[in-house]
Amino acid sequence: GSVTSEELLEVAVGVARTAAETAYRMWGEGVAAVATKSTATDVVTAADRAVERQVTEELRRLRPEDAVLGEEYGEGRSATAGGVRWIVDPIDGTVNYLYGLPYHAVSLAAEVDGRVVAGVVRNIATGDEWTATLGGGAFRAGQRLRCSTETDLGQALVATGFGYDPARRTHQARVVAGLIPYVRDIRRMGAAAIDLCMAAEGRMDVYYEKGLAAWDMAAGALVGTEAGLRVTGLRGLPPGPDMVVAAPPALYDALHDRLADLDASGGP
Ligand code: IPD
Repeated sequence: GSVTSEELLEVAVGVARTAAETAYRMWGEGVAAVATKSTATDVVTAADRAVERQVTEELRRLRPEDAVLGEEYGEGRSATAGGVRWIVDPIDGTVNYLYGLPYHAVSLAAEVDGRVVAGVVRNIATGDEWTATLGGGAFRAGQRLRCSTETDLGQALVATGFGYDPARRTHQARVVAGLIPYVRDIRRMGAAAIDLCMAAEGRMDVYYEKGLAAWDMAAGALVGTEAGLRVTGLRGLPPGPDMVVAAPPALYDALHDRLADLDASGGP
């Protein structure tokens, strides 16, 4: 029979907790960069790899038919029609993990027919855990989440992030420079998945970023939309690598239009 979003969330939460335990233990043992990826600052640690392997093995054991897409090892078995695909970021916020900053997470989402229906983001250092199911709401510690009720972009605390490519960062810096005068302030905390959850519970007002991969945003975007955020790309596009804008309805137009004016989704 077909699996429910709640059942998938239960699997996700169990697997994410075990994964976070492994990542936390390895954090305590000391972290080093073992390789670089897209650029010299885009690092991978032994924990990124070990945690993704553990998550993939657990999912294979619990849900042998499902497909898995992960940050470090890419696509395993591909999804069948009506089948489930898991989207895994073993450690989102790898640079924070490397530097001992307590803002990094395991992010795990379940997609059915290309639609994310369940997701969990678990902060490895603090144990904060955000969950959501499609249509079922977003939660942390048993509390239903609601995004910020701020209505003035000039009073909004804006979360964002930067990619690893220097040319992209130059463009992103120009966009930030064009935004700072019009908002309360900017935060670059270092983990997109947690940023989306922070906006979901109104601990930050809005979030935007260019250059995210599916694993950075899949779970966090569901937590965000289920908490009342509008999560899109620019100019009517869906959220994706070109842009993710996440804002409460009352702030959405102002943020969207400012980012569109700054051509935030353009450039490298
Ligand atoms: C990164 C973080 C960061 C964001 C980058 C991501 P990673 O993910 O989410 O906050 O600005 O765009 O690549 O590399 O730590 O998994």
